[in-house]
Amino acid sequence: MRIVLFTGKGGVGKSTVAAGTAALAAARGERTLVISTDAAHSLADAYDAAGAAANATNGSAEPTEVAPNLHLQQVDAQLRFEQSWSDIQRYLLSVLDAVGMDPVAAEEMTVIPGAEEVLALLELRQHARSGRWDVIVVDCAPTAETLRLLALPEALGWYLERLLPIQRRLVKALRPVLNRAAGVPMPGDAVFDAITRLHGELDDVQALLSGPEASVRLVLTPEKVVLAEARRAYTSLTLFGYRVDGVVANRVFPADAVDPWRAGWVEAQRTVLEEVAQSFSGLPVWVSEYRPAEPLGVDAVRALAGELYGDDDPLAPPVGEGPFRVTRSADGGAVAHLSLPFVTRAEVGLARNGDELVMTVGSYRRLLTLPPGLARLKVAGARVVAGELRVRFVEPASAGSAGTAATQAGEAR
Ligand SMILES: Nc1ncnc2c1ncn2[C@@H]1O[C@H](COP(=O)(O)OP(=O)(O)O)[C@@H](O)[C@H]1O
Ligand SMILES: [Mg+2]
Repeated sequence: MRIVLFTGKGGVGKSTVAAGTAALAAARGERTLVISTDAAHSLADAYDAAGAAANATNGSAEPTEVAPNLHLQQVDAQLRFEQSWSDIQRYLLSVLDAVGMDPVAAEEMTVIPGAEEVLALLELRQHARSGRWDVIVVDCAPTAETLRLLALPEALGWYLERLLPIQRRLVKALRPVLNRAAGVPMPGDAVFDAITRLHGELDDVQALLSGPEASVRLVLTPEKVVLAEARRAYTSLTLFGYRVDGVVANRVFPADAVDPWRAGWVEAQRTVLEEVAQSFSGLPVWVSEYRPAEPLGVDAVRALAGELYGDDDPLAPPVGEGPFRVTRSADGGAVAHLSLPFVTRAEVGLARNGDELVMTVGSYRRLLTLPPGLARLKVAGARVVAGELRVRFVEPASAGSAGTAATQAGEAR
């Protein structure tokens, strides 16, 4: 199964290109689902599918078939998730209140970041596991929300991992008191089970989307500000471990300039397109012309995608090592390689917190849980080489029996 996500600045053509790519896949005979995580749904508009739009507003859970093999799912049931989370939250608040915690602090503790986006991820996971689809195309929200969405499984996992044991301990200690106190609901195991399950499911989503079957494509128009945002998105996506496998330059003016106004645009776009090629060297840059009319309908978006990819296979699995890999060095240490295009060493914040590596680039922070082989080692230094952050790890003790003891301790965990 192949998962392709499309993101980029608002209005650049994400939905159009996502819809077109899905239509192309379906025409090849792949069982294709196209799903939107953008609250401003326009997939149904791109397909000109009145039925699908009606379904979406009805909150229909079943995807709508808009063409043979081509199914459209708009996630509109956000309410459902918020409802179940608010049950959990209300319960936690009552517990924290019962132990005398300041309500504001308690509220803070139980608010999960981005609850409204979680449902889209869970829906995606369910479809991916259903075995019904060969291809899932995801039409994402504009860049910032998409990054929030894609950073969520890890952030939330981190949060739940810490919250859960605290709550369990708290409740265990309080059970006798709570039993006697009137009006305090007892913590049904169902609440904990719900949290634990959510945690596991988000782990799945993370593994799915950062795995070798999934990739993200950046859609842009050849304008300086749009390119700047796409470059930042590229950095952040790789920071979070996602594979970017191509760039779509959309709405490119045909070169046959007929008047000074268009000649001006053609020239300006040409300059930016050169920068695009340089910025994303190593990635394919697929170009799509500015059409004389909005590409609407399955045939129109499929035609657009057909011209866009040309002879390239739009479903080719991403190549290369992936954004994160570890190499061993001869001295028993290791180097963690993390793709981070466009940054200098000075722009990367790096800290160690137990078995986590805390990386900060701009306003984005990633808590990378180190694989056990690295977690027992010590960070000796880091540098940025050729778009890659390299963190060097060494044995905590220089040599001899101390090193062996550390190894055993590390493996015993
Ligand atoms: N290559 C193109 N030529 C002409 N119009 C386009 C092209 N690509 C997209 N559009 C139109 O631009 C508008 C925005 O596209 P859309 O795919 O909805 O962007 P996004 O999903 O990024 O917000 C739509 O009206 C769409 O039909
Ligand atoms: Mg859109």
